[in-house]
Amino acid sequence: MHRRIIAPGALAAATLLLAIPASAASHSPGAPGIGDPYYPDYGNGGYDVSHYDLRLTYQPATDELAGTATISARTTQDLSRFNLDFLLDVGEVRVNGVKAAFTTARQHELMVTPKTPLAKGTPITVVVRYSGVPSTKSAYGFTTWHRTPDGAVAADEPEAAWWWFPSNDHPSDKATYDVSVAVPDGTQAISNGTLQSVTSKLGWTRYNWRENKPQATYLATLALGKFDITTGTSEDGVPVINAYSRDLGDNDGAARASVERTGEIVDWLSGFFGPYPFSSAGGYVPNTTTGYALETQTRVYYSPRQFANGSNTSVVVHELAHQWYGDSVSLKGWKDIWINEGFARYAQWLWSEHEGEGTAQELADHVYASHPADDPFWTVAPGDPGPDHQFDIAVYDRGALAVQALRDEIGDKAFFALLKGWPQRHAYGNASVADFQRYAEQVSGKPLAALFDTWLFQPSKPAAPAARAVSPAKTQTAPAQPRSWKRIQATNDVHSR
Ligand code: ARG
Ligand code: ZN
Repeated sequence: MHRRIIAPGALAAATLLLAIPASAASHSPGAPGIGDPYYPDYGNGGYDVSHYDLRLTYQPATDELAGTATISARTTQDLSRFNLDFLLDVGEVRVNGVKAAFTTARQHELMVTPKTPLAKGTPITVVVRYSGVPSTKSAYGFTTWHRTPDGAVAADEPEAAWWWFPSNDHPSDKATYDVSVAVPDGTQAISNGTLQSVTSKLGWTRYNWRENKPQATYLATLALGKFDITTGTSEDGVPVINAYSRDLGDNDGAARASVERTGEIVDWLSGFFGPYPFSSAGGYVPNTTTGYALETQTRVYYSPRQFANGSNTSVVVHELAHQWYGDSVSLKGWKDIWINEGFARYAQWLWSEHEGEGTAQELADHVYASHPADDPFWTVAPGDPGPDHQFDIAVYDRGALAVQALRDEIGDKAFFALLKGWPQRHAYGNASVADFQRYAEQVSGKPLAALFDTWLFQPSKPAAPAARAVSPAKTQTAPAQPRSWKRIQATNDVHSR
């Protein structure tokens, strides 16, 4: 791909290249994108990250973030240079201990040229020293670093990492994380995993978080502000860490009444999905004005607006369901979003049934009946919605309807075996919709190509499944709206940035 910026550093590196052995001529630059057709320049080619160690300092008064990222990776090709995705100001880059040339290119690319080319299949350590005011940085005209009255939050999908750490920003390259952040005494830093230690020195408090299971870059989160942190353990023994901004105002009670049920809901979900995959669970509610929630690994991000109408366990179920469907088993490419959203929505339907507010079948019937055949809703194919429709309501509602159609087709026994088997089959890995179809065929012993095509890929309203066809006398009236319907829809009403 063409690059328009040649920095002085790159020229110096070009000079150095003359001095290297002839065998290095076969080394080529890593691709500036990992090859996702939805987002061609997200992620990078040529290496695979295994661990991010982020050691940072944040000053809420000025929104200044500074520190060092140490990235452990392995090359997957002979590399003359490689890219990271990042927006803050870089002071120094070292590769295997040696200063490397670097320059920035296009929207969010940091191009690194090591002093010596790198051979395929070798472990590398990349150290990036950086600083900056994340709220002043944007790419493609937006920023997803959200300032709050007392700090800031990084949590968005698919873009969140560029504003706080350099990465190979694509869910197909998962890694473990140590996130260590120093903040002024009285401010807290919230991130993924377990809190290893908190230390104070000379007016600064350092929070050390560790996520020891592979995590996608968009599922890494950071919140800085004045939080009340609660801890506990679920009945099944899952440690729970939640955090609430001390500035939630009228939403404080409802937020706690919802998020404090994390342990109970994790245990309930494990009845369907199998053992909880991570070493801690929980969520945090910062004082943001954004509306969506996000399944950030082990530590779900909730907008306070999700609790503006009272307690909302449905959104908690949705985000916790993602811990299995999305976080442990991550999508291969962004087009596979149905596996995340279709199943997280379906979990909300199961919860509705559990709460006596409408069965999954009633919710499916309601989705089917409330969108006439000419409704543009049906033009979005949840199995490959396109980047502009990735988070459309159809990905969720038509997506969950497809899950119900699959259940109707293969029967409850195979369906629930599949629901529990899938997170085991691909635990801590990546999988696609095609992988899911193959696995469903294997578990049920039925060919399912036509069913998947109809419910996930056709841009039109499927005919009602034979088993579910409403009798002619009843076709005039749509089924009654399940009591959970409005609450479930509200998960998306507030999804805008
Ligand atoms: N995965 C999130 C959820 O459904 C959706 C986030 C959408 N992103 C956004 N910026 N609105 O829970
Ligand atoms: Zn979701």
